Amino acid sequence: MVDFLEKQALSPYMTELCQSSSAIRKMDEIAKEMVKKYGEEAIHNFSIGNPRVPPPEEYTKIMMDTLNDKDFFLPHGYAPNTGDQEGREAIAELFTKLQGVDISYKNVILTAGCAGAINIFLRTILSVGDEVIIPSPYFLEYPYYIENFHGKPVFCETKFEEGWQINKEKFEKCFTAKTRCVIINSPQNPTGIVYTDKTIKMISEICQNYTEKYGRPIWILSDDVYCRVLRPGKKHHQIFKFYKYSAISYSVSKDLSLPGERIGALIMNPEIKLGERNIHAISMSNEFLAIYPPNRLHMRALPKLLKFTSQVELYSESQDIIEETLKKLKIEYVQPEELFIYSQKYLME
Ligand SMILES: Cc1ncc(COP(=O)(O)O)c(C=O)c1O
Repeated sequence: MVDFLEKQALSPYMTELCQSSSAIRKMDEIAKEMVKKYGEEAIHNFSIGNPRVPPPEEYTKIMMDTLNDKDFFLPHGYAPNTGDQEGREAIAELFTKLQGVDISYKNVILTAGCAGAINIFLRTILSVGDEVIIPSPYFLEYPYYIENFHGKPVFCETKFEEGWQINKEKFEKCFTAKTRCVIINSPQNPTGIVYTDKTIKMISEICQNYTEKYGRPIWILSDDVYCRVLRPGKKHHQIFKFYKYSAISYSVSKDLSLPGERIGALIMNPEIKLGERNIHAISMSNEFLAIYPPNRLHMRALPKLLKFTSQVELYSESQDIIEETLKKLKIEYVQPEELFIYSQKYLME
């Protein structure tokens, strides 16, 4: 029999969480078991989000050159809490282009993947009991990230019939005096849609109204982890132009197929005057949570790495095959702008 004291050894929160565990990881475990049983050919494991295309060919050379770079002082030493400057500059340059506003490296902090960026951001803005609105369906880890810092997730349902865009009335009903943040993700996992400018404008205006009403900023955190895996010709939204209290989380996990290297960034809207104070506070969260900026070799290599993406166009081919199959099966879906297809039928089953 298990000792009563042993049972009390963890926090009640983690004890409960261990039992439910992350749904994504659970699906991955099931899929791996099924591969053993039915073979690789029969099972397609889409659960954990490992890219299905390799990093760009140039990757190995860039990393070898970085390793051999004699000017790279202290290659394995501790990095600044904000990350190395050349990496921050490279991210600033990329998002200056994507967002259409000037972003200095001072508004960027390098993080352990996109998840690291979201976690350190939430750690820095949330007080106990603060609420974070998430349009649903959503990336299944978000509620855990929010609860990590004693926040409360509030779900705003979106519907297939409305193209998975955010509904104004439903969104407004989510707000209370405790609302601190809204996490949006576009291109969106799992629906595959991108938010229209109309949606982004609407949520920005509502956040502005409630920011003024309750007298403290309500943040919009735009999770842009898929911003460079759009279908050709599709436009990524520009949250910095719409809303002052906004931040972006990003990583090279998807567009460069490097999820295991844990390289990401948090980018703060340059319009915020206390930006440097905020970045400093967020960088302290990076240190206190002991996740720190990503590994130094990759930070150093970022300016070269970001000039490439893996062959994301290959996803378009897989997508065409899935779309054709769904059509044959007469399953309705909203045409995705990125890698995912999320059908109404599956949602209801
Ligand atoms: C929407 C979304 N955000 C964040 C992440 C986490 O990204 P990273 O592995 O860079 O931490 C994922 C991973 O699948 C995701 O789908």
